[in-house]
Amino acid sequence: MTILDVRDLNVVYRANGREIEAVRDLSFTVEKGDSMAVVGESGSGKTTLAVAIMGLLPSQAIVRSGQILLEGQDLVTMPESERRKIRWKKVAMVFQASQNALDPVKKVGSQLVELYLYHNRGAKKEEALDRVAKALLTVNLSQSIMNMYPHELSGGMKQRAVIAASLLLEPDVLLADEPTTALDVVTQAEILLLIKRIVSERGLTLLFITHDISLVASLCNRIMVMYGGTDMESGPMRDVLLSPTHPYTQRLMEVLKGLEEGRLTLEQLREDQGRGCPFLSRCRFAESRCAEGLPKRRSLGNREVRCLVRGEG
Ligand SMILES: Nc1ncnc2c1ncn2[C@@H]1O[C@H](COP(=O)(O)OP(=O)(O)OP(=O)(O)O)[C@@H](O)[C@H]1O
Ligand SMILES: [Mg+2]
Repeated sequence: MTILDVRDLNVVYRANGREIEAVRDLSFTVEKGDSMAVVGESGSGKTTLAVAIMGLLPSQAIVRSGQILLEGQDLVTMPESERRKIRWKKVAMVFQASQNALDPVKKVGSQLVELYLYHNRGAKKEEALDRVAKALLTVNLSQSIMNMYPHELSGGMKQRAVIAASLLLEPDVLLADEPTTALDVVTQAEILLLIKRIVSERGLTLLFITHDISLVASLCNRIMVMYGGTDMESGPMRDVLLSPTHPYTQRLMEVLKGLEEGRLTLEQLREDQGRGCPFLSRCRFAESRCAEGLPKRRSLGNREVRCLVRGEG
């Protein structure tokens, strides 16, 4: 069953009198229980996508067109009063750099209890305490951290606490935006294992956002590769890793193999915008027709690929 269906989504930011197209004609679907990796380099629109799904875009951003269907209901046109009932309860998010989201002057326990009570008006404090204790248990944190301040926790513990917070209202879909980036490799691996276990125990649907394809190879069963705000290639993880079809995915795999370090500056990315395929200037297969517009998505076997040249097989 399709739980999330994003169709032709366009999100722009208005900044300094100009518009930045952060998400362009992006389309993908996620089946219930899937773990989908959203992979792309800095500035490719990953966070904008996730925040748009949460309905928490800043005021300078607008969803220009498209749909975000959650179990068939369009979140884009849904009134905020309805959306509030869904946010955190059906779809929750672990924000990028969210270790810093904990309030430094409040104990971890009371922050989580407040969060629970805020979203469950009328709930009793005992119920909230019980739910917080369970959520902490899920992320392998002992109850004693409830009486600790954020600065008393290690980076990994803080990230666990933030994950516990995202699970408090028992969402069906979890959006995790670079949840391991600031951590050392050992802690990173622990958090990945933790997420993997929670996803399987709860039957969660996961969108795991990262710039590091190697991180998600074994965590996720599906992958969407983003570039310039749009979906370049999406399909089953194993198949995309074994036979990347889009030139950009191929390039990512080369980077992974250590052949080449390829990072794009935001300035380069912006230059590319509006000139046909976003990957045009770096693509070794590029032809003049690639400059004519954003290539349409095509089905190639079990893959959706946005490429004119490769699309011809
Ligand atoms: N608040 C904002 N105002 C203006 N432009 C923004 C804002 N947030 C993001 N952008 C721009 O939108 C584009 C996509 O940014 P986004 O943060 O979604 O990318 P990302 O893939 O999450 O990058 P990263 O890997 O660095 O987190 C970028 O060009 C970025 O500069
Ligand atoms: Mg981001």
